[in-house]
Amino acid sequence: PRSIWLSRHGESQYNETGQIGGDAELSANGEMYSRKLPKMVRDSVGDDRPLTVWTSTLKRTISTAKHLPKEYNQLQWKALDELDAGVCDGLTYAEIEEQYPEDFKARDDDKYNYRYRGGESYRDVVIRLEPIIMELERSEDILIITHQAVLRCIYAYFMKKSQEDSPWMAVPLHTLIKLTPRAYGTEEQRYKANI
Ligand code: G3H
Repeated sequence: PRSIWLSRHGESQYNETGQIGGDAELSANGEMYSRKLPKMVRDSVGDDRPLTVWTSTLKRTISTAKHLPKEYNQLQWKALDELDAGVCDGLTYAEIEEQYPEDFKARDDDKYNYRYRGGESYRDVVIRLEPIIMELERSEDILIITHQAVLRCIYAYFMKKSQEDSPWMAVPLHTLIKLTPRAYGTEEQRYKANI
């Protein structure tokens, strides 16, 4: 690709309450980000460059993309959905620690390999992202609006960072990341929305 733009979805109602997973709508701040995103993208991409937008199948990424120009092709990928927290879906971290203390500790000890009961590990997500990465490698400019865990894996791939460390990497909300692969490595730029 020439460049890849990456963003988490705007803040969701679950982000406000500290719950993980789910399929919540955007919060008022998240809604504001969805309205600011078109200009941020246009300023970075340029007016006349066509862009393809990939989202997950969850409401918070689709809503984040909803004000982008209609001329942009949009595609929803199940493979871009958030890491599946299984039985912990919808809980806060405090509730997980209280209800599943051994799991909470096991995840902290080996976050990359820990698989939620009835759900996924980061290793699982890296594997399900393989078709996405292959498609990305042979595509032109793409904007991907996805979730923190998924974004960590895609980012680590292009920045040649260790996947085992990526589960600990903080990816801020309301920030557009531009990655441009070059012969000597991947160039990175970040644009923070004023929210
Ligand atoms: O809501 C879930 C997060 O995007 C994933 O965070 O893997 O650090 O628990 P975590």
